Amino acid sequence: MNMILKEKNRLDQQEFWKEEVVYQIYPKSFYDSDGDGIGDIKGITQKLDYLAELGVTMLWICPIFTSPMVDNGYDIADYKGIQTEFGTMEDLTELIEAAKAKGIKLILDLVVNHSSDEHAWFQAAIADPASPYRDYYIFKSGEAGNPPNNWRSIFGGSVWEPVPNEDNMYYFHTFDKKQPDLNWENPALRQEIYEMINWWLEKGIAGFRIDSITFIKKDQDYEDVAVDGSDGFGSVKVKTRNRPGIEKFLAELNRETFQNYECVSVGEAPGVPYDQYDQYIGEDGYFNMIFDFHYADIDVENGSEWFRRTNWQPQDLKDLLFKSQGAIQNSGWGANFLENHDQPRSLSKYITDERYQNEIGAKALGTLFFFLRGTPFIYQGQEIGMKNFQRETIEDFNDVSSIDNYHRSLLEGYSEKEALMFVNQRSRDNNRTPFPWDAAENAGFSESNEPWLKLTGDQAAVNAADQVQREDSVFSYYRQMIQLRNHSAYRQTLIYGQFSPLKSTDAVIAYERSGNETLQFFVNLSNQEQEIETTGEVLLNNYNELQMQNGAQVLQPYQAVVIRKGENHD
Ligand code: GLC
Repeated sequence: MNMILKEKNRLDQQEFWKEEVVYQIYPKSFYDSDGDGIGDIKGITQKLDYLAELGVTMLWICPIFTSPMVDNGYDIADYKGIQTEFGTMEDLTELIEAAKAKGIKLILDLVVNHSSDEHAWFQAAIADPASPYRDYYIFKSGEAGNPPNNWRSIFGGSVWEPVPNEDNMYYFHTFDKKQPDLNWENPALRQEIYEMINWWLEKGIAGFRIDSITFIKKDQDYEDVAVDGSDGFGSVKVKTRNRPGIEKFLAELNRETFQNYECVSVGEAPGVPYDQYDQYIGEDGYFNMIFDFHYADIDVENGSEWFRRTNWQPQDLKDLLFKSQGAIQNSGWGANFLENHDQPRSLSKYITDERYQNEIGAKALGTLFFFLRGTPFIYQGQEIGMKNFQRETIEDFNDVSSIDNYHRSLLEGYSEKEALMFVNQRSRDNNRTPFPWDAAENAGFSESNEPWLKLTGDQAAVNAADQVQREDSVFSYYRQMIQLRNHSAYRQTLIYGQFSPLKSTDAVIAYERSGNETLQFFVNLSNQEQEIETTGEVLLNNYNELQMQNGAQVLQPYQAVVIRKGENHD
């Protein structure tokens, strides 16, 4: 890929990454080509036809690098190596080429807040305190036999882990103890990271999704925080998420890497207030776009504590969504999503009446998110309307944070049954179950009858083979949405058009995109009929018709419509 000198990001500027429709792949669960029960890179290559038929133009592949897989690849032991169970570098090159031949680009996951404790740098750092690699990580002495402070890691317990064979010495980890944080205060570490990023960009990938990037700057005082749970700890986020000084690291990261390539950078940037969006995605922003989590966690008070549930209403989602779209539009560009590998299934989260956790509901949610201003990201399985599972025992979970949340719920005084309910509702495993390609016992995911994680079990009802051939399926609806956005007369409006909220009843989320055309979107997020006010041609509808009653249009439960405004149509 050629180095280029990029113009500044202008709000109205056309950019390739604004025009993409991205599909996120969790490789371990997508398709197992060699029968070991684990999805792999060749498996993705073999399913490219499916992705091309859907119409997506870019794939984001979750980490495939050498890893002990404690956090399924978000614990990297070699940034330039490929995890054996996923395949080889040749497999990846083959995938990049095969995807390119179908007009599909590839972005990888960049995990540089932390590495695995099995990375050679960390191994050198603990083997010899005088090693130059010692300063690639964060080490501190304990306080009177206790860890240096009371910060709780995101996956539970102290952020400090004793260093083996050293007295009163600890290393720091924001996430699991097998994910030691890299020390961004050290310029030598930063240079290694930049070199690695550029090495990948030279290989011809189209860019990166950048993991947990708002955590790279830690408050240097390392002082205690207020205790906020029965475990006696306080959240690490208070002192390590989007903290002052991070701007220096992020600007340098962009300057030394992304800025010099025709590539896309998508930041996972939780904890950034809207009044700082300019710095992140504005003209000189650190990234092309970021994910906004302000509404993704609407069902829990704090994204990582699943036992603190909220009683949210559609109006709350509407307020958060409009606020988010407004802030992003003022500053730059957003990465829109309903699901990802850290969230439960959207059907189970956002459709509160279980009777509509079906194809109607999946299409309604699809309409809601897909036409927002920004680049849409579809997570594997979302396009066929997958739902959460119900596990009967904690033994059936793989995800580190599910296991932690289960135990923390018990510690907070909830019963085992309640703890299991919280985890079933929120577990990251919900979105990590093997992809149901067909209705067979192993859902066509693998030749093996023992996939690495149990299936959801409802592949007879929800599977790709059925969805692809059925015209009224969720898959076909997603195809239509993609066609409309990228290949119809409405392309300019749907990609570059202005976003503005429309007035509606509390339970209806209604907005408009205006460019060459004016398009309106109405989504009823309730099980009651709702009146709307609009005139125009119906371009997309998850019901067969839009009913009129007493001179007004009436949306049925969870009905969603896309309307082209115009005098000549009704
Ligand atoms: C991000 C990833 C998540 C991972 C964590 C630690 O939030 O999306 O899956 O566990 O970072 O890398």
